[in-house]
Amino acid sequence: LPVPPFDFVVFGGTGDLSLRKLMPGLFYREADRQIIGDSRIIAVSRTDQTVGQFRNQVAGALDRYVPAADRHPEVVERFLARLHYVALDATRGEGWGDLRDALAPAEEKVRVFYLATSPSLFGAICRNLKDAGLVSDTCRVVLEKPLGHDRKSAQAINEEVGAVFPEERIFRIDHYLGKESVQNLMVLRFGNALFEPLWDSGWIDHVQITVAESIGVEGRAEYYDRAGALRDMVQNHFLQLLCLVAMEPPSSLSEDTMRNEKIKVLRALRPIGAAEVKQKTVRGQYRPGAVDGKPVPGYLEELGGRNQSNTETLVSIKCEIDNWRWGGVPFYLRTGKRMPTRCSEIVIQFKAIPHNVFGKGAGELAANKLVIRLQPDEGVRLSIMTKVPGPGGLRLRSVPLNLSYAEAFKDRYPEAYERLLMDVVRGNPALFMRRDEVDAAWAWIDTIQAAWVETDMKPEPYSAGSWGPISSALLLARDNRSWHDAEF
Ligand code: BG6
Repeated sequence: LPVPPFDFVVFGGTGDLSLRKLMPGLFYREADRQIIGDSRIIAVSRTDQTVGQFRNQVAGALDRYVPAADRHPEVVERFLARLHYVALDATRGEGWGDLRDALAPAEEKVRVFYLATSPSLFGAICRNLKDAGLVSDTCRVVLEKPLGHDRKSAQAINEEVGAVFPEERIFRIDHYLGKESVQNLMVLRFGNALFEPLWDSGWIDHVQITVAESIGVEGRAEYYDRAGALRDMVQNHFLQLLCLVAMEPPSSLSEDTMRNEKIKVLRALRPIGAAEVKQKTVRGQYRPGAVDGKPVPGYLEELGGRNQSNTETLVSIKCEIDNWRWGGVPFYLRTGKRMPTRCSEIVIQFKAIPHNVFGKGAGELAANKLVIRLQPDEGVRLSIMTKVPGPGGLRLRSVPLNLSYAEAFKDRYPEAYERLLMDVVRGNPALFMRRDEVDAAWAWIDTIQAAWVETDMKPEPYSAGSWGPISSALLLARDNRSWHDAEF
């Protein structure tokens, strides 16, 4: 779909997200000539600086985040020329004239307001945009996560933003949905005859979703300590991945059909209350250790040497979906900071075949396993039983059928934000979270959070560079299962 000319206004335009993800993402779209006409990118921030200074700041960010081979000087020049800068305290009612002057009439171009600020400012910014007369029938607003701290605060934000923008023009971003490998999940399921007939409790034993990160909390300790892994990763990215794995086939990918299926999964998630939270969830917090052979500090040291925090940097959860397709099939989720490696993957563990015709001597018949590697080294791996070649008797071994994106597709593929930013301009909300999805996700998270408080369940320590406390392994061992070895 073509991308129309636009004015793209970024509040928090000089912040980390803007410089690290949004500007490089838009730069690549420029390089692909997807940004046309006199489209402009207008950064808004309180810092008093000139447009020249802002352009230098972005040029520096491109040097840092875009490989030199992709930074063709004429593209950089073209892109920097699109950048504008407005110094403004967006939480105040006055001083909006410069932004008004910078914008083209709304009927001439698509106008996007991207709120890359703290969510506590979303309501005020939207109100001020309206009072300044900048909101027309075609404007869109993009909300970055975290959308609130719990269900109640998320509802309050949604109310405030909803008082200015109608739901179909609110784009709540979850960058996981823009990842190529995540989109391929739908193609894998619904573009092949092979998997869908087996995609239920009849053939699937369980599902695992792991997002392991080797980084710590980086300079975000203040935000992170109020959030923790459950709010930071599970409420959004994990529940979205779980929905894509578990949802019924939508009739098309149009804006609401897929979201209608996802919400059914969220509503069928079995709540985890105080009575079972200790059996079904694990909380961890990293202590000093080593990642890639290098010593790294613990979480408390990263918090500035505090001696106590009740925030989890790792969480493992056994969850169940109470519907016909998934009855009795656990979904094990696990995410953590300072794990041994960065790797995200979804593992579909099939059931064992009902009868072994080869006899015991041929070796164990391992059940099939489908590993969908989301990052890095994106790919899909299906383990199948195979005869080991040779003249002797039958010997069997599980061998992977391997699809590597890097080998199959030589071209660079876009980063999550590139796709999503262009979807906003095109006005396609299919890959964004609808208000009811956010609400249902928070409702499930709030129950766990409340159960942790009620049972006084504190995070268990784990060494940085390990796979987490032993309880995370026990969560599966109790069910005679184990986490898939990510290094496999
Ligand atoms: C963000 C979280 O949403 O996702 C971060 O706030 C996390 O804590 C990041 O590091 C992970 O994203 P990615 O794309 O690197 O897997």
